[in-house]
Amino acid sequence: MNLKEDIQGGIFAVVAKVAADTGTRAFVIGGFVRDLLLKRPSKDVDIVVAGSGIAFARSVARQAGGMKVAVYENFGTAMFHFGDMDVEFVGARKESYRRESRNPIVEDGTLEDDQLRRDFTINALAISLNPDDYGMLVDPFGGLADLAKKIIRTPTNPDITFSDDPLRMMRALRFASQLGFTIEENTFNAISRNAERIDIITRERIAEELNKILLSPQPSTGFRYMLDCGLLKRVLPELAALKGVDNIE
Ligand code: CTP
Repeated sequence: MNLKEDIQGGIFAVVAKVAADTGTRAFVIGGFVRDLLLKRPSKDVDIVVAGSGIAFARSVARQAGGMKVAVYENFGTAMFHFGDMDVEFVGARKESYRRESRNPIVEDGTLEDDQLRRDFTINALAISLNPDDYGMLVDPFGGLADLAKKIIRTPTNPDITFSDDPLRMMRALRFASQLGFTIEENTFNAISRNAERIDIITRERIAEELNKILLSPQPSTGFRYMLDCGLLKRVLPELAALKGVDNIE
């Protein structure tokens, strides 16, 4: 699939020029691509490059008009505002995690490594900004088919995806609520198995996801999933213990 009509001009043209001038492979990735395909407007653009995301962000900002770049050395990311858009840059990476922490051990990786480390197939889609195949969808894990089937599924073994970052269990329920999707069976079973790992996530991060569920078109989808997979019991034990709560639709 080629999406070049959808990523003409603006920041994409500047990124493409810097990619071509410096011989650096660059791609739009993640939520922006998902939302583009779902025709949901999005103002957050994530760019992944082969090499340093920070150096690339600085070159793009210089070309785009000298915006101020916020650099997060610890995460290897950089971002700036472009009109009403937030544009974030990261170098393609492989991540591995220790059990007790959400902070990963990071190594340089390929685009495919970077897609594999992401939470869901629908969030692992990328679009090329390179001269030879500008606009081409890069979809090694079947994200486009999952969008069509309205399925939330992890790109790799879900026990690894959720153990790496347990917040993703809440994100799965939140996307199901926001998009009206179902959680694929293996993915759902892994959430049930890993539910207690949510305890390493701060209340603030959990609250952000709960808030997004409450603001979604059908919050009961998220709460039903939370109840069924055992997350409700850990996140809101008083609610899970209420008589009759397991009859919610
Ligand atoms: N991501 C991930 N695991 C997380 C958070 C994010 O793999 N715990 C990846 C996904 O590829 C995601 C991208 O980083 O698409 C950007 O994350 P974020 O901006 O938090 O989410 P979006 O998917 O853009 O969705 P939203 O803006 O609705 O939160």
